[in-house]
Amino acid sequence: MNNGIFIVGTGTDVGKTYIAGLLTRFLRQKGINAGYYKAALSGAIKENGRLIPGDAAFVCNMAQLDLDPQRLVSYVYETAVSPAFAAELEGNPPDLEKIVLDCTQVGRHYDFLVVEGSGGIYCPVRRGEVNIELTDIIHRLGFDTILVADAGLGTLNNIVLTLEYAKNRNIAVRGIILNRYDGDNFLHRDNKQTLEQDDFPPVLALVSQGGDLENICLALVLTN
Ligand SMILES: Nc1ncnc2c1ncn2[C@@H]1O[C@H](COP(=O)(O)OP(=O)(O)O)[C@@H](O)[C@H]1O
Ligand SMILES: [Mg+2]
Repeated sequence: MNNGIFIVGTGTDVGKTYIAGLLTRFLRQKGINAGYYKAALSGAIKENGRLIPGDAAFVCNMAQLDLDPQRLVSYVYETAVSPAFAAELEGNPPDLEKIVLDCTQVGRHYDFLVVEGSGGIYCPVRRGEVNIELTDIIHRLGFDTILVADAGLGTLNNIVLTLEYAKNRNIAVRGIILNRYDGDNFLHRDNKQTLEQDDFPPVLALVSQGGDLENICLALVLTN
């Protein structure tokens, strides 16, 4: 199985793709041949009758990956709902074995994979006779996770709930990245300080609006 890390968010739009792009680029700048994979993407834009996997295109562009974004996502849906619901509307339900195979194949091009989740940590990927949750994909791919969370109001609740669910499902969280962090905002600073207490995974990085990953402990990201 590939070497890599799974990016989980506290929800949709918290910045998983943005951080995945920064992390992939950061690793490549450090001389590590890092790549990207995502199992299922919904809310894709249609161009010339073809669905464009926007997250993969964003990361390819940011980290200068040379593979076609289409190859980096196994299932792409147009409707902006969970992959499970999207597949009910559009067909082509996700298959866990295909996801593992695709991820392994993408991984052959790289030494390290940054894998992005869909939605938050609870995300129905397939339902009906076969049930797949996002956490099943994380288990099958065998990666530890990094949690991306917003830096602002409400984030502690979202982080705690996500960590509890991860623990309940036996998923290791290596650390937390606070996104859209503003060091001049006293609430953001207080959230960071609260998370720096012993019973939370380490805060690996703070990323400001439009910002870069200036510092992240590589050992924590790369350790398998
Ligand atoms: N730190 C940031 N600075 C600038 N834009 C950001 C930042 N984080 C996220 N975004 C933008 O906000 C939107 C949602 O973020 P995205 O990474 O797509 O979230 P997710 O993958 O969790 O759904 C995107 O347009 C993304 O480029
Ligand atoms: Mg995304």
